[in-house]
Amino acid sequence: MSNQPSPTPTRGLHVITWGCQMNVYDSARMSDVLRPLGYGPVERPEDADMIILNTCHIRERAAEKVFSELGRLRKIREARQEDGKQTLIAVAGCVAQAEGKELLARAPFVDLVLGPQTYHRLPEMVAKIARAGGSVIDTDFPTETKFDFLPQEAAPQTAGNLTAFLTIQEGCDKFCSFCVVPYTRGAEISRPVPSVVAEAERLVASGVKEITLLGQNVNAYHGDWNGHTTSLPELAARLSEIPGLQRLRYVTSHPRDMEQALIDAHRDNPIFMPYLHLPVQSGSDKILKAMNRGHTADEYREIIKRLRDARPDIALTSDFIVGHPGETDDDFEATMQLVRDIKFASAYSFKYSQRPGTPAAGQPFQVAEDVKEQRLQKLQSLLREQQDSFNASLVGTTQDILVTGTGRKTGQLNGRSPYLQPVHFEGDPSLIGQIVKVHITTRLTNSLSGVLASEEVKAV
Ligand code: SAH
Ligand code: SF4
Ligand code: F3S
Repeated sequence: MSNQPSPTPTRGLHVITWGCQMNVYDSARMSDVLRPLGYGPVERPEDADMIILNTCHIRERAAEKVFSELGRLRKIREARQEDGKQTLIAVAGCVAQAEGKELLARAPFVDLVLGPQTYHRLPEMVAKIARAGGSVIDTDFPTETKFDFLPQEAAPQTAGNLTAFLTIQEGCDKFCSFCVVPYTRGAEISRPVPSVVAEAERLVASGVKEITLLGQNVNAYHGDWNGHTTSLPELAARLSEIPGLQRLRYVTSHPRDMEQALIDAHRDNPIFMPYLHLPVQSGSDKILKAMNRGHTADEYREIIKRLRDARPDIALTSDFIVGHPGETDDDFEATMQLVRDIKFASAYSFKYSQRPGTPAAGQPFQVAEDVKEQRLQKLQSLLREQQDSFNASLVGTTQDILVTGTGRKTGQLNGRSPYLQPVHFEGDPSLIGQIVKVHITTRLTNSLSGVLASEEVKAV
């Protein structure tokens, strides 16, 4: 683990990130690992000595998208070559993990192919190419964990250093019928508590106020703490002792791991935001079983009830898949009914996409594309209505807003509500970094606007 100050950048690095928040985190860590080699961020790929494409494999045409982007990057490299400049092209992330060899066979001009668990070895890979030329592929699931090899000096964080992601758990052992993640991210592992705490302390020391803990099944967290296995609520209790850390979120959770101690922590630990993303995928017991989700629709309803009992102002979001193999109109209607019963603050919904190598891909009774499309439209329109009414319900209330920066208009500030909504209001830039009370007056399409509560205005 190195803690040396990094050299002034002498080489440009451009990272393109697709996929989930964990890929955003990984991209930042890849930049950290490359910084001691002299790589610093550049905005345009045309200015980059190294370009990393951090990919996602979750839904259809993932590989096609990668090849088409690589075509563009190859042209950039050729143009740079004419000016006598070299460019390394790397493909990282879940497509690299799942289809690394095929990728290199089809795009031999790619210099590096690396999976999500090997990016701490990037310096070795770069050195090997400098030494011997050719391409390098590393899609192992190594016995060592990358977290032990990442530099302690981290990249500046997003949103003016105020919010950050922190991976605490990675991989998945659940093997839902439709999902590639267990194959691309590997088996479930949890980082030990001291390692997470040290990273959180570094983030807070650099100005971060709100941390989102990341994991494919983050609520299955079971990191070691001096020889004893902990849980997410225990980790959160430890993190809430860090002075200056004001808000904690976690994503993505699985209903099966929503234990009572965690539900209770939403009531007892004020560091948790009243907001939870809890994917359910379907409201039909038959489809939930086919998906291997390990719970019924009523069990999900029951978890939500307990969460709302513990924290009445909690807002819920979810993920849905329509058109899983075997889904009938009645099954889809059961999903619509679940949505009507629960009322989500927002949600993501997707058409089922056949993923190579997953159990559902080979099942009979695949649902026709136009049926999936119709179901998706119906579901999305219901979810949109619910999102609108959730946002409307905040108008007239006063919310705690983390002020993240100045807005586009003069005198305007931007912030983030407990429910992750962008909020605009007028105020003094000295408030940036604070949590202030804002009276919400208007609902805009994808944000809210309001006015500072009077005591905040006097405090400036
Ligand atoms: N670990 C999370 C999900 C990670 S993937 C969980 O267990 O819920 C993010 C979302 O992508 C999933 O919740 C699911 O809704 C969607 N998804 C995953 N595989 C998919 C597929 N083959 N087709 C369509 N959507 C999919
Ligand atoms: Fe995929 Fe299921 Fe694991 Fe989530 S729990 S990552 S959906 S296999
Ligand atoms: Fe995509 Fe991999 Fe994340 S497949 S959703 S980048 S875990």
